[in-house]
Amino acid sequence: MESSPRVKLAPSILSADFSRLGEQVAEATKAGADYIHVDVMDGHFVPSITVGAPVVAAIRHWTDLPLDVHLMVEAPESQVDQFAQAGADIITVHIEACPHIQRVVQKIKGLGVKAGVSLNPGTPVSTLNEILSSLDLVLVMTVHPGLGGQAFIEAMLDKVACLRAELDRRGLATELEVDGGITAEVAPRVVRVGATVLVAGAAVFKSGQTVKEALEKIRASLG
Ligand code: DX5
Ligand code: ZN
Repeated sequence: MESSPRVKLAPSILSADFSRLGEQVAEATKAGADYIHVDVMDGHFVPSITVGAPVVAAIRHWTDLPLDVHLMVEAPESQVDQFAQAGADIITVHIEACPHIQRVVQKIKGLGVKAGVSLNPGTPVSTLNEILSSLDLVLVMTVHPGLGGQAFIEAMLDKVACLRAELDRRGLATELEVDGGITAEVAPRVVRVGATVLVAGAAVFKSGQTVKEALEKIRASLG
């Protein structure tokens, strides 16, 4: 039997110490992270405002890992160029923010960047039917977007399982990322139903342990 590829861990800098962001990114890199997850919020799609392309460009100097940029913004098509230029390797947009999702995905790919689409907890998997085969990554929000440190929504396990079944049925190697409330307790459960990339903010940067210990704890939970 073919062995499944190693699950990737993507620390979210949303819960990092912003006053020493570069060092925290370097710390996560050294501690064995696979991606650095950057949460961009515009105060419209979600109430909070976080960071923009200049911050992505700044942390680009602190890591060689892929920068996984999660755009929680309205009209993301007008911003993807600047994030690509800033050094993003993956750009994920929300389907709820994109009436012309095919066009946005093509635009991201045209910039030489991997394209992801994210679903809010209330958005059904079926909204991806027509676009799924063009995606490099699907991001399932396992909390309501906008804040770190929330509790994992249990009902999202079925959604991840449903997407896994659909990806396998179509023979697609698309990454299946989960984001929100991921801890060492939740991690093995989402992996069991088919997630391949785990985003974790509070569990990595606000756990009371070092970033290395926190990442090792999540990795160890996967067996
Ligand atoms: C939430 C963000 C997440 C957030 C996850 O809107 O998309 O990436 O940082 O944080 P935790 O892991 O603390 O739930
Ligand atoms: Zn995120």
